[in-house]
Amino acid sequence: MRIFVTGGAGYVGSHCVRDLIKAGHEVTVFDNLSNGHRAAVDPRAAFVRGDLADGELVSRTLRSGFDAVMHFAASINVGESVEQPLLYYRNNVANGLILLESMRDTGVRKIVFSSTCAIYGVPPAQPIVETMPADPINAYGRTKLAIEWMLRDCAAAWGLGSVSLRYFNAAGASSDAAIGEDHRPEFHLIPLVLQVAQGRRAAIKVFGTDYETHDGSCVRDYVHVEDLAAAHTRAVEWLRPAQIAAFNVGTGRGRSVLEVIAAARTVTGHVIPTETGPRRAGDPPELYANPDRLMAALGWTPRFVNLEDTIRTAWDWMRRMPDGYRD
Ligand SMILES: NC(=O)c1ccc[n+]([C@@H]2O[C@H](COP(=O)([O-])OP(=O)(O)OC[C@H]3O[C@@H](n4cnc5c(N)ncnc54)[C@H](O)[C@@H]3O)[C@@H](O)[C@H]2O)c1
Repeated sequence: MRIFVTGGAGYVGSHCVRDLIKAGHEVTVFDNLSNGHRAAVDPRAAFVRGDLADGELVSRTLRSGFDAVMHFAASINVGESVEQPLLYYRNNVANGLILLESMRDTGVRKIVFSSTCAIYGVPPAQPIVETMPADPINAYGRTKLAIEWMLRDCAAAWGLGSVSLRYFNAAGASSDAAIGEDHRPEFHLIPLVLQVAQGRRAAIKVFGTDYETHDGSCVRDYVHVEDLAAAHTRAVEWLRPAQIAAFNVGTGRGRSVLEVIAAARTVTGHVIPTETGPRRAGDPPELYANPDRLMAALGWTPRFVNLEDTIRTAWDWMRRMPDGYRD
């Protein structure tokens, strides 16, 4: 297939691009490099530097003939979305709308969309299943849910097929340490913990140690980025026009912040000092997936179930590229 990948220079997108190429697909990456890196894009992929707000450029590029779109491009920081909601509605919803209009106009009928567990808000129980109500508690989650709604309406109106992959916490780096996570500023737990191990930060702050979890810290589901990539490749190959699906993508195991830090100590051999801070507003105590629907429909299983193995890939990448990408 010829696949148009928005945000393919970002963390998750760049790993998916590699997986698609490995599976024999032809990839064009479309990215404005606002938060991604040219060096993260597999050299075998075509690259268009552009912004989704530029609907003419999106349509012109799509018109060259694509079988499917993978849509990773978005603004991704939950805290920032609370402070600047309209920035998030513009980039995630308005620019997503431009992409869907271009797909409609150029006859591209399949999309795999990067959704998120943030659409569930504070779910009634754990693990989370797809049938639980979508009730996001921040602008980031609401912008992602808005796109899921648009996909549903477009399926009925003009036969758009879509898979929304609701990721839990993406983690790790490519197994060969060629590409990895480099957000600036970084706000994801595992790279922050590893930056302490590198000596770039004095300590890791643990926000809340009085949650009703087994050790008092927040619990999340860390899914390896290569497993996420494999889910995307399977999804795009499985999808048919007018079909709609939404799948959780997680390991099915919750890991606490303190467990992540302990695993990072084992992997790196560094002490990794911690500081305790108050709970952050809007941080649910526990979020982990029931991935059964994805496993049953697409035959997907996570290769990385051991947290230390996941962290080791991130650590190998950070040791190879201590300053991240150089661009
Ligand atoms: N990282 C996670 O743990 C996680 C969890 C759940 C969902 N997601 C979703 O997965 C997707 C990828 O996340 P990520 O961590 O790789 O983020 P990222 O910031 O590394 O990648 C996003 C990419 O999109 C590009 N981009 C943003 N706005 C654009 C625009 N208007 N036009 C063109 N390119 C644009 C950025 O330059 C960047 O390369 C996002 O949609 C995010 O919401 C991520």
